[in-house]
Amino acid sequence: MKTIFSGIQPSGTITLGNYIGALKQFVDLQNEYNCFFCIVDQHAITVPQDPVTLRKNIRSLAALYLAVGLDPEKATLFIQSEVPAHAQAGWLMQCVSYIGELERMTQFKDKSTGKDAVQASLLTYPPLMAADILLYNTDLVPVGEDQKQHMELTRDLAERFNKKYNDILTVPEISIPKVGARIMSLQEPTKKMSKSDPNKKGFITLLDEPNQIVKKIKSAVTDSEGIVKFDKENKPGVSNLLSIYSILAEKSITDLEQMYAGKGYGDFKGDLAEVVVNFFKPIQDKYYSLMESSELDDILDRGAEKANQAANKTLKKMENAMGLGRKRR
Ligand code: TYM
Repeated sequence: MKTIFSGIQPSGTITLGNYIGALKQFVDLQNEYNCFFCIVDQHAITVPQDPVTLRKNIRSLAALYLAVGLDPEKATLFIQSEVPAHAQAGWLMQCVSYIGELERMTQFKDKSTGKDAVQASLLTYPPLMAADILLYNTDLVPVGEDQKQHMELTRDLAERFNKKYNDILTVPEISIPKVGARIMSLQEPTKKMSKSDPNKKGFITLLDEPNQIVKKIKSAVTDSEGIVKFDKENKPGVSNLLSIYSILAEKSITDLEQMYAGKGYGDFKGDLAEVVVNFFKPIQDKYYSLMESSELDDILDRGAEKANQAANKTLKKMENAMGLGRKRR
């Protein structure tokens, strides 16, 4: 069976963009693959985090993993910092990375440009991400489009490692959804939807209340044409809303365009808000009941145990190939 690995940062409540770009794929893929889904808390601390809030966000993300339909009997769910091999292999991957290629990462440039005190870990973030993936002999990594560059670097690093040392790492493929690989901000539809957007009206989180969701969708930026049509270039706002609608209601974009032919944006947005609210309702109910149970800790304990076992095997192979320590008998 092929193996899948992916991760999400616990840096705030995840957005509709994270759900559509990543989580939804995780749920769909868990039946056919050997899956590892990680809460990448060590990646979250590459920018300043309040410790109390970070802990809360880790638990909350674990509950959301389950609430959207990940099944711990099928997929291994765990927290990155509870598997020390990630940080250890992250160091090894840093030793095969070049500063120049890390400085060229657009996410590094976006987060560091114009800042005085940039944490070194922001630069060395991608080798840690590569370690996450490579430790599990991963075949496929489901992510949104914004992770494409990090994935290309991961492949380069794996190939470089294999060439330099023994051929021991699996070079992973990337899986990006056909629709919804990049959900845009509701306020600036040429920018990706992000939980760190200072404009809170730009993103919807999975835990937003129904009235917040309705407000955010009603105030989403569109255009003055009044025609519900998919045209990314000229109608980015409407196209983004159509993508969201199409994925959550499981209707094709062409069907939706026909449904709203001759109607204005008011009807379209009102219906979309209802679709989103109804889609989130069972997820939120399950989330709140999980947060009160001890089930979550048991699942994460079991996940860490399985992940530690798998990751340590690859780590040992990597260390041996690089000549670290003493040869084990
Ligand atoms: P993160 O935490 O920023 O995002 C988690 C996942 O959500 C996707 N995503 C989106 N998809 C569509 N539209 C959007 N607006 C949108 N915003 C986010 C991301 O592409 C991602 O799949 N570096 C990663 C975390 C990571 C990781 C890994 C991922 C660490 N190690 C190993 C895969 C494998 C990140 O910051 O994702």
